[in-house]
Parts: sequence; structure tokens; C-alpha cells
Amino acid sequence: MSCRVVVLLSGRGSNFQAIVEAALPIEIVAVISNRPQAAGLAFAREHGLKTVALDHTVHTEREAFDAQLADEIERHQPDLVVLAGYMRILSPAFIKRFEGRLLNIHPSLLPMFPGLKTHERALAEGVKIHGCTVHFVTAQLDHGPIVIQAAVPVRADDTTITLATRVLAQEHQIYPQAIRWFAEGKLVNNGGCVNLKGDLTSQSVLSTGA
Ligand code: GAR
Repeated sequence: MSCRVVVLLSGRGSNFQAIVEAALPIEIVAVISNRPQAAGLAFAREHGLKTVALDHTVHTEREAFDAQLADEIERHQPDLVVLAGYMRILSPAFIKRFEGRLLNIHPSLLPMFPGLKTHERALAEGVKIHGCTVHFVTAQLDHGPIVIQAAVPVRADDTTITLATRVLAQEHQIYPQAIRWFAEGKLVNNGGCVNLKGDLTSQSVLSTGA
């Protein structure tokens, strides 16, 4: 039986597209957005996928919105929920409901630079290596067991745009890979450290790409 996946997104959806194009052993059973106009929803519709728009601006309470969102997700009986540029903080009750089957991608080498504006902050700190992380979501924002990371060099002439572009290319590699591992049952959580069954090397990608 293939792994049933629900995708949550808020915008452009390039990670979601990379997941679709990777032809993974999964079934994307719904794509849900808190922003009805998200480009990612249009891409999903073009690909014949079930889409749901739940506009968060009509709810004043985060908990009420998240409860409605969780109910909608559960209607699709997912094995895995994938946050692909879902730009809202999730309430603890929501995270608890999906713990262990909730993945996120973040544009930094966590635990460095949680939160927003990661590329700006990386440049401001003068770090020489930056990157992206796929991790299981826990109650602490942008923390949680790390599945895979990709590192890219930071160049002296980088702007936030050139750096973001280099990181995004790696996001498009590692997110499909992480989801494939999950679907294949290869991820083992050893007390908060996620390892890959029988493989000691593949969870880090060191890109030298331009
Ligand atoms: C990606 O860079 C993703 O890592 C980031 O938002 C972007 C979404 O792009 N996510 C976060 O910052 C979550 N904390 P996309 O819509 O093209 O996939």
C-alpha cells in the first residue's frame, strides 16, 4: 500500500512541485493551503490533485483554525503530513496530533537560524556554509529530529537572492529524498536522532554547486 501524503503550503509551492516531479512511491491525497490564491494550489489542480483552501484570515483564534485544519487533514487519512512552505506557526495541539508523521523543510542548517529571513541572517553573520534541513516537527519552532541536511558554500559576492537560489536547489533534492525514506519505512528515531536503516552516510549533502 502506498504512503498517503497530505501537503500543506502557503505560497509558490516549488518544493511541492519537486515532490510531485520526483515520482515518489506515495499518493498525494490532498493539498491544503491557508491562502486560497497560493500558486501551489493551482499547480496541484493542474495535476488533478485534490485541493482544499482554508483561509486563515477568517479565524481569529489560532487554535480554532488549527483544529479545523487538523480535522480536514484527518479526513484524508494520511500516513504523512508534509509542510512545504507552510508559513504559519502550528499550535501545540495540532503538532501533538500529527507527531511522528509531520515533516517540515527549513531554509537553514538547523539549529542555526530558526524562524524567518534565514538567508539575510546567514549573510549578516558572515557564515561560510549555509543550507537547508528536513526535520520532524515538534512543539519547539524549527526544531525537531533532523532527517537530512544539505550544505552550500556562501560566496563573498552572494546576495540574499543568489544564496536563496542555491539553497532552494538543494531543498528540491533533499525533501523528495526524505519523503521517499519515510514512505519506504527507512527512518528510525533513536531518542530524537533520526537515522537511516543500514546507511551511515546519506543524510548529509555537501554541495559545491554554483
Ligand atoms: C522554502 O524555502 C522553505 O524552505 C521555506 O519557505 C520556502 C517555500 O518555498 N519554509 C520556511 O521558511 C518554513 N519555516 P516554496 O513555496 O517554493 O516551496
